[in-house]
Amino acid sequence: MDMIREHILNLLVEHKQQRVLRCLERLDPCARESLLREVAELDFADIAARYTTHMTGDEQAEKIFQEAELLSPGSAACSSAECDRLRGIGRRALQDGRVALYLVAGGQGSRLGFEGPKGCFPVSPLKSKTLFQLFAEQVLALQQRYGLRVPWYILTSQENNRATIDFFTAHSFFGLRPEDVRCIVQKQIPSLGLDGQLLVGKDGLLFKNPNGHGGSLYALKDSGALTDLSGRGIEEIFYFQVDNPLVTIADPLFIGAHIDRRAQMSTKVVRKTDPGEKVGIIGRVNGRLGCIEYSELSPEQTAERAADGTLRFKSANIAVHMLNRAFVEKLVSRSDVHLPWHSAVKDIACLECEGGRLVEQRVKGIKSEMFIFDALGFAERSVTLEVPRAEEFAPVKNAAGADSPESARAAMLSRARSWLSRALPGREIPDGLQAEISPLFALDARELAEKINPDIGFASPLYLG
Ligand code: UD1
Repeated sequence: MDMIREHILNLLVEHKQQRVLRCLERLDPCARESLLREVAELDFADIAARYTTHMTGDEQAEKIFQEAELLSPGSAACSSAECDRLRGIGRRALQDGRVALYLVAGGQGSRLGFEGPKGCFPVSPLKSKTLFQLFAEQVLALQQRYGLRVPWYILTSQENNRATIDFFTAHSFFGLRPEDVRCIVQKQIPSLGLDGQLLVGKDGLLFKNPNGHGGSLYALKDSGALTDLSGRGIEEIFYFQVDNPLVTIADPLFIGAHIDRRAQMSTKVVRKTDPGEKVGIIGRVNGRLGCIEYSELSPEQTAERAADGTLRFKSANIAVHMLNRAFVEKLVSRSDVHLPWHSAVKDIACLECEGGRLVEQRVKGIKSEMFIFDALGFAERSVTLEVPRAEEFAPVKNAAGADSPESARAAMLSRARSWLSRALPGREIPDGLQAEISPLFALDARELAEKINPDIGFASPLYLG
């Protein structure tokens, strides 16, 4: 053990990790052993590469942005007959059990100011259903509609994995079979000080942060889920984010378009109309498909309009993807490439050795993450499908204002009224009608039309469940 310890200490000296060395000296023997064990597992080359990426940044590099080619239902390239054909392909894939679902829910709801997994946030306007419940009911409804079992994977972090599992267990998995819902945990990576040194957290272990939603692809491999998927004959993965209560899970048009084009990774977008909206734009960066963050475009580019008056950069990323399983397998097995790291400087609480004893400090540190949309750059074929915002996108990100619970609830009420008016043509839907439609009652306006009593009264609150 002494030789091993010496080797680890030498590694720290070699990589100039003085802060860890200082803390090690002052930790009690048990904590020291735990920290040494963590250090022994580190990939110092990766740490150095992340620090270099942060220091050199790519902000200075010249970037040429181009809009993505869109597939827009209703356009000449995507007539309603073509949409029906694509829907048929998607439905068959679902019926054959070739599609799995993947929800990324490893992030923290810090902007929302919500403790605990964000999926436990109560969001629906009348019944206060949580995000997890709304998704689970859609999954159950899909299983009933297609008469099959759709495996659902949920990415969690070390911080919220237990709480997520407990929540589903306490709610009897909302009627789903527990074996069809699998929570997997994303990796954490050491955060760094602005000087590139590792930080020791208040618990005496290395301070780490989750590796970003791009880590979801590697988590599929590390958890054995990829092997599982292949064993079940799953070929395609429908990927979505925890913060969007309007998400339309596994809709056949998207699945069908992706399969028909033999795409490896596809994205849903909504039309950006407000130049100030804080969304990423799906487009090409120096020829490579990816996501252009709003902060990367100049105010002039953000406001630039095409001849028809629409914004030039209008394909707002709603972070809903289709991923071909074989594509993911290949990407995460490559040793020559890795999704790139993006870094952000954040306040970090950590330990330092001062005057011969350990004290707590808040320092500025570097947290690095991978982003899922960078995988688009590795896809040879991709579909960017435009979908109506009012039907599919109302994220809950902030406590108030834009993208808040209030705006999401308003969008949910408005979609319910729109479905009612399509399901009951000729009936007047009162403007202020407070209606909520459970996914178990109807997954879309068409199903609502089949099920609803045509003489239903429109008194608020109206819950269809
Ligand atoms: C994201 C996209 C943006 C898009 C917007 C749509 C980025 C950088 N930007 O913004 O292009 O327009 O969504 O709503 O992603 N997550 C994990 N593990 C992590 C980090 C995040 O599972 O380590 C999950 C979160 O739980 C959440 C999702 O990833 O479901 C998005 O993360 P978040 O950081 O909130 O993305 P946004 O900045 O809101």
